[in-house]
Amino acid sequence: MALNPTLLSLLLLACAACGSPEPEGSDPVTEPVESTDHVMDHHSNARPQEAVITHLDLDLAVDMVQQQIQGTASYSIHTAPDAKRIILDTDGLSIDRVTDGSGAELEHGLGDSTFLGRPLNIALKKGTDKIIVTYRTGENAKALQWLAPQQTADKVHPFLFTQGQAILTRSWIPVQDSPGIRFTYNAKVKVPTELMAVMSASNPQARNNEGVYTFTMPQAIPAYLIALAVGDLEFKPVDQRTGVYAERSVVERAAWEFADMGTMLETAERLYGPYRWGRYDVIVLPPSFPFGGMENPRLTFATPTILTGDRSLTSLVAHELAHSWSGNLVTNATWNDFWLNEGFTVYFESRISEAIHGPDYAGMLQQLGRQDLLATLVRIANSAHPEDSKLRLDLAGRDPDDGMTEVAYEKGAAFLRLLESKVGRPKFDAFIREYFDTFAFQSMTTDRFLAHLQEHLLAPNNVVLDVASWVDATGLPADAPTPISDRFNKVDHEIQRWVQGTPAKELATSGWSTFEWMHFLRHLPQTLTDAQMDELDKAYKLTASGNAEVLAAWLEQCIRTDHDAAFARLDSFLNTVGRRKFLVPLYTQLTASEKGRILAQTIYRSARPNYHSVSVHTIDDLLAWKDNHPPVNF
Ligand code: BES
Ligand code: ZN
Repeated sequence: MALNPTLLSLLLLACAACGSPEPEGSDPVTEPVESTDHVMDHHSNARPQEAVITHLDLDLAVDMVQQQIQGTASYSIHTAPDAKRIILDTDGLSIDRVTDGSGAELEHGLGDSTFLGRPLNIALKKGTDKIIVTYRTGENAKALQWLAPQQTADKVHPFLFTQGQAILTRSWIPVQDSPGIRFTYNAKVKVPTELMAVMSASNPQARNNEGVYTFTMPQAIPAYLIALAVGDLEFKPVDQRTGVYAERSVVERAAWEFADMGTMLETAERLYGPYRWGRYDVIVLPPSFPFGGMENPRLTFATPTILTGDRSLTSLVAHELAHSWSGNLVTNATWNDFWLNEGFTVYFESRISEAIHGPDYAGMLQQLGRQDLLATLVRIANSAHPEDSKLRLDLAGRDPDDGMTEVAYEKGAAFLRLLESKVGRPKFDAFIREYFDTFAFQSMTTDRFLAHLQEHLLAPNNVVLDVASWVDATGLPADAPTPISDRFNKVDHEIQRWVQGTPAKELATSGWSTFEWMHFLRHLPQTLTDAQMDELDKAYKLTASGNAEVLAAWLEQCIRTDHDAAFARLDSFLNTVGRRKFLVPLYTQLTASEKGRILAQTIYRSARPNYHSVSVHTIDDLLAWKDNHPPVNF
């Protein structure tokens, strides 16, 4: 059997660690650079050195009424000589049966439950290379959000979507749920005939009468990138390679909004090499989706809150598309290396935006990112985990989701911009492109990246840099490049004019983009009277804004200044939108006053059942939520 490079590297690493001989039949041509790292993932119970999945076949039935997935998962596995067991991650799953490829039962058992879920230990017989697990999902499967028709755009049919990153896939598939373990997958999914299923794989473009859909993902991916959505979906192509899925009432708007997708894809390819995944589509989900976007291969999952009607938030698509290289092609080996996914992606996203919209536009995005980073650094410095502001994280023993912050994104991107400034853009681009090519379909540790950086960029160009101050120290190093934006300087000037007495409606705001409005709203004076807030609202219709970024920034100011004319809108926004990036600042701002705390509790009581488990987890912590009568969903 030809070993895939990732598997080979895992086996080589294992061998280096335990001193056993190299696996037979390794092909020296495809061998990756041998690394001295031992990839230990603290967030998976799997022991890939013993036995590792190489391919997964799923046969799933989705019951939208019982809100349950029943499935059979068949795995091709590769075992070390003398392997006695394989361990899969599970969380809340019921395991009905485990057999080998011939149908013979295999002894198995679920281990103790921790925050990682429960390990499924399966005893292997000599030569077992296939196992089959029959299972059902539990009532509160963390990855899954089951939506009632009222929570969808069209309000007729229910909806289901999954969110795997970081360690949630194990709550709907028994799997080795580590970003350092890659495998190919196929799936057959049965859904009610009025619905359609799509996955992070080859996808249908129309409903069929049987309600049975088949999928293939021939490129090896880690478990966190397996994704499924089920709903009354329509497809609309944008160009030959790209298109959108959404509910009927949304799909036209989505296709219009994302008209640039093909150009983005071509721009990305010109920068860093061929797109290796076939099609690139986006599915616009209902508003409870907890993220802006999720880079599920071939099919980005996106929030509807980027449908502004003016294409002003499509940089999110550039971001998720960029993950097709940084993250999906070269993948963080563990969640401690998360910055390798997100820092590279923010850098790459900004390069796509710059190529399409120019440096002014990219500069605004960079400044907003820097503002977010500085606020995050203050929060982290005062938190129980001040070390979370390092690029290289130590998340052992913790839910990785709690330590995955803006730091990985913006400090990571700032580090790459600094590197670019040291060697110049042409050399840096060549380096990044070669990095993606060299390590395609492999996982990457911070150490391995730093060794590659030293050898292929810093040493050849005689660059001396305090890399440790970036990777292993807290805070933002002094040599971080400062983003510049002339357009924001103009916004600052208009704020000054308003403060000095120019009426709001006379400010020079015409032609402002969403980013300028965000900057404006973030930089209003500390103290504002209700009359001033009214004046702004009358002039710019902020409470009525259909742009979620503008509205969220405005509502935050309304809470801060106790401008309660906007609180009904706040209530309806928090009850429909479940995107965590909006929820956190709004609920946080509410907790700053007694009146706000009460309002937060009241709103959260009704909104909580509308949120996905990742948002629930965060907001429960934020509000120290204790509910004696938990709503049915969580
Ligand atoms: N991969 C992330 C989303 C994610 C991060 C899910 C950590 C689970 C754990 C995705 O690529 C992302 O970063 N989304 C951002 C948008 C982006 C434009 C910064 C978001 O959701 O806001
Ligand atoms: Zn991302």
